[in-house]
Amino acid sequence: MIPVFKPALDSEETDGVISVLKSRWIGNGPVTKEFEKKFLSYIGGKYCVAVNSASAAIHLSVISSNVKQGDEVITPSLTFVATNHPILMQRATPVFCDVDYDTLCSDPSDIEKKITKKTKAIVVVHYGGHPVDIDPILKLCEDRNIMLIEDCAHASGSYYKDRHVGIFGDFSAFSFAAIKNLTTGDGGMIVGRTRKSIESARTLAWSGISESTWERVKGKKLKWQYNVVSTGWKYQMNDIAAAIGLAQLKKLESNNLKRKKITQKYNSALKDIPWIETPTVRDFAKSSYHNYVIKLPQHLRDRLSEYLAKRGVTTTVHYMPSHYYSLYKKFSADVPVTNRVWKKILLLPIYPDLMQKEQDYIIDALISFNP
Ligand SMILES: Cc1ncc(COP(=O)(O)O)c(C=O)c1O
Repeated sequence: MIPVFKPALDSEETDGVISVLKSRWIGNGPVTKEFEKKFLSYIGGKYCVAVNSASAAIHLSVISSNVKQGDEVITPSLTFVATNHPILMQRATPVFCDVDYDTLCSDPSDIEKKITKKTKAIVVVHYGGHPVDIDPILKLCEDRNIMLIEDCAHASGSYYKDRHVGIFGDFSAFSFAAIKNLTTGDGGMIVGRTRKSIESARTLAWSGISESTWERVKGKKLKWQYNVVSTGWKYQMNDIAAAIGLAQLKKLESNNLKRKKITQKYNSALKDIPWIETPTVRDFAKSSYHNYVIKLPQHLRDRLSEYLAKRGVTTTVHYMPSHYYSLYKKFSADVPVTNRVWKKILLLPIYPDLMQKEQDYIIDALISFNP
């Protein structure tokens, strides 16, 4: 089977991991610090903490935005549920906003309609690595004193008006899960604008302890005393993951370029098929090309998926909207575009190591489908 996603790994990742294993310091430590520094400099951000998933990073972002019971958080429904779970975990109310039909990213004008006196934060998802049109959303947040959280899970290497995403929000969350453009196996990053908020997120990611074990051991003799200033979680990244991240970061731009070429080849091969809509990239956007999404008439979507599966080509749907799940059914979801579009979308295989002959095979299989 040709998978939908596949991590692009080579000897650099293996060497990095072996070197950490040999060092015998495999937990959170100096390699994680180095990864944080290099990632921050790559995106042009101010402060960050490496964690073990974007789910953790979003959770800490929502907590750090002071979202509490009674608050409303405007967020897309067309996303992975980890975007929205932290809102419920804080006993706040998700208010689902609609997406732009073309890019599948949050629609700024719909966000504006959904703001009330209770709106504490807005979460945006750079869907598939295509940046959200962030300027109008930033203006709404600034004018009304609303926190902005960017879910950059798909967006390592995505730029909005030539600036890397993740630097616009009060907090941003990146994912380095196995299938992401930059992977560490599992991992994530929370990025923020103030030292204070990020240092407090760092404490929350380490059981409320104010100093890391590595900091305490650095002087050769372990300083066993530490202070506990809050409750917290065990959300830290470890140095094995960070070593993979360092190797991946070096190749991110070239890997994303390979994704772009794969996208362009699909676009030109599929543009004349009347029942397929190929993806759009807005002028302000440089996408990471995390996924390749076609839209097709609802009645054909599952049939095509099964047809391709029989020919060894995996496809998937990102996502069934959150409000279709029983946990989220009770929340307001006036989202006509989301309701219509999610039934039309299908993800085709895209990853840097997808071979030309494999892509030709996928394209031929699509062309041979009788709608
Ligand atoms: C949009 C979005 N947000 C958040 C996450 C959660 O990321 P992680 O698996 O790193 O927790 C994902 C994961 O697929 C995602 O696609």
